Amino acid sequence: MLLITGGAGFIGSNFIHTWIKQSSEKIVNIDCLTYAGNLYNLDGINEQHLFIEEDINNSEQIQKLINLHKPRAILHFAAESHVDRSIDSPDRFIQTNILGTFNLLQASLNYYNTLSIVNQSQFKFIHISTDEVYGSLNLNDKPFNENTAYAPNSPYAASKAASDHLVRSFFHTYNLPCIITHCSNNYGPYQFPEKLIPLVINNALQNKSLPIYGNGLNIRDWLHVEDHCMALIEILNKGKVGEVYNIGGCNEKTNIEVVNNICNILDKLKPKTSSYTKQIIFVKDRLGHDKRYAVDNNKIQTELDWQPKYTFESGILQTVNWYLNNEDWLQKTISGKYQNWINKQYESVK
Ligand code: NAD
Ligand code: DAU
Repeated sequence: MLLITGGAGFIGSNFIHTWIKQSSEKIVNIDCLTYAGNLYNLDGINEQHLFIEEDINNSEQIQKLINLHKPRAILHFAAESHVDRSIDSPDRFIQTNILGTFNLLQASLNYYNTLSIVNQSQFKFIHISTDEVYGSLNLNDKPFNENTAYAPNSPYAASKAASDHLVRSFFHTYNLPCIITHCSNNYGPYQFPEKLIPLVINNALQNKSLPIYGNGLNIRDWLHVEDHCMALIEILNKGKVGEVYNIGGCNEKTNIEVVNNICNILDKLKPKTSSYTKQIIFVKDRLGHDKRYAVDNNKIQTELDWQPKYTFESGILQTVNWYLNNEDWLQKTISGKYQNWINKQYESVK
């Protein structure tokens, strides 16, 4: 039995889809369903998966659930994940990403200490972190590797960095068998349309502006979510406890390249009288906007024999197609609360 947190979100739900395609082992999913948690992401998943609505900050309930389900591994995805929201109101990021992770670690350690030596030797706590904890790269800098010093720049990145330090400390102090992963920007099916790629696809389809922050030359290293999930399965199977693994997509792109790429695909798949690129507008930059992220995959490639299968070109085509074929998912996902956020975020953009 695996136990995951945040499995109604983007990456967690993709992990469940990927998991049940390749294993019959049960998976328990604890998620409190914030605006980003969406049970539509789990449509079609069978009884191999058990959903439990709970907040990782509820220490008593989390302890009971872990003790009851007796997982052989815990994968911790639950977090507040959107940088712009952390700039707007960081409080919830501190609560969930730092204190919530601390609660989960304590409950996991209490549980771990009750296991037999054999079960202890098989147990893993995998903490899903981000490349953003390493800060920002200049154009000529080498990609982030596992030894890059932490330099988080946004409240989101700082809260993830703090949670990483707690995880590390539980390994070193209490021998809880932990692994930390740092992945780059994920994209693919079921991503909430506040993040760049689904936001642009959604706005393009609704004939709205496609807002690009600043000059559009910030760079991200795009990783298809299925590749990320396969990397996590390799880490679950073969990763060494106490280790850190970086997971990147080997796909560095400027934001303007990404948006143009999506527009070009839509021009072919759903043509209009004028190109979707005409909807692009440049808006005020994000505060403290990190210039560039890039991840060095050398360790996970050589030690665990994982590498991404998607190129950016194949992944973005698959993703745009998915959104076109799942417009009902998009409609159901965009609630009133989402509209309030979008209106506030892009006040001058219509
Ligand atoms: P997401 O925002 O789509 O989903 C987060 C999920 O966690 C939601 O289902 C939400 O309901 C749940 N959640 C939030 N607070 C909770 C709480 N207190 N208790 C229980 N559940 C709670 O996020 P995502 O993009 O799927 O990211 C998953 C993890 O991966 C996060 O830890 C994030 O920091 C990390 N990460 C994401 C990316 C990316 O590009 N999306 C890249 C690197 C790392
Ligand atoms: O690098 C990993 C991180 O990637 C994860 O840890 C975060 O959870 C995830 O949200 C993501 O953070 P980013 O800030 O890089 O992703 P986002 O999609 O918000 O933005 C990607 C780039 O696009 C960034 O340079 C900001 C820019 N952008 C974003 C939005 C939403 C725009 O230009 N316009 C937009 O409307």
